[in-house]
Amino acid sequence: MPVRQHPEDRLDSLLDADDGTALARFCMYDDDGESVAADVQPLPGAALTAVAAQARRDLAGVRLDTPDEGLADALVAGGLALHQATTELRHDLAELPAPPVLPAGWTLAEPGWDADLARACDAAYGPDHPNWRWQSGDNEQMRAIFDAGDPVPPLRSASARVVGPDGRSAGHVLCAGPVPWTDDVCGWILDIAVAPHAQGNGLGRALLTHALRGTREAGLSTLGLSVLDRNPARRLYDNAGFRTHARVFSVLLPPTADSTGTQ
Ligand SMILES: CC(C)(COP(=O)(O)OP(=O)(O)OC[C@H]1O[C@@H](n2cnc3c(N)ncnc32)[C@H](O)[C@@H]1OP(=O)(O)O)[C@@H](O)C(=O)NCCC(=O)NCCS
Repeated sequence: MPVRQHPEDRLDSLLDADDGTALARFCMYDDDGESVAADVQPLPGAALTAVAAQARRDLAGVRLDTPDEGLADALVAGGLALHQATTELRHDLAELPAPPVLPAGWTLAEPGWDADLARACDAAYGPDHPNWRWQSGDNEQMRAIFDAGDPVPPLRSASARVVGPDGRSAGHVLCAGPVPWTDDVCGWILDIAVAPHAQGNGLGRALLTHALRGTREAGLSTLGLSVLDRNPARRLYDNAGFRTHARVFSVLLPPTADSTGTQ
């Protein structure tokens, strides 16, 4: 079997060469209908070209996410395009900025989800966003987090809405923590967004400062997040003292006739 369950960790899988030698370990999951082979780590001694070729065959049609830049390079050298690159950041919460003064009429309010916030996020992740568009499914995900704690409940002390002089939500920061998907114990910024009409006034920095201070208040000693390359929000995080923790490279492995079930 080219792909099999890891014998010591039932959440992980192994990618084998045809002769049964284990080449890489990874964790398979479904991301909103997309099959993802996450955290693909070549095993010591495995040639990256061999891992790349085997993955293309046995994980065809899957999105491969790897922290190993050499493996991503080997896939690209084989003719595939890098789909996206993400940086995972961490803040150690040792030195925190003072809460900034908000522009007149603006306040931070209790976290929550409402129609104004849905519109603000839709506009913030609009056609000009370098990475993606807000989808209607994202509204459902937000409601599931607030209403059912699914997949994680909000960390309320670190989350907030920003409300304008008209009393309407114009942005938010939503945190959770400790989150189950990191090796270290940390809080996580699930989303931070400010409607375009309100951007550039220090509201994003105020929300981020609230998240940092509220995470420490909750007794956690690290706050993390993930940001895609080309998102200018990266500067906000760097200036606030976040440091690179890991890089993740994503490559879409093309489907084959076998993987799609066509002849
Ligand atoms: C990131 C975001 C929340 C910042 O909100 P904001 O209210 O404009 O932030 P601020 O006014 O406090 O600006 C803080 C810093 O953000 C940086 N920044 C963030 N987005 C930027 C953009 N689109 N263009 C230029 N700089 C940007 C700047 O470095 C700025 O610092 P400066 O004033 O010293 O230049 C907002 O741009 C946004 O909603 N973006 C779309 C959603 C998104 O991508 N979120 C991050 C997901 S990882």
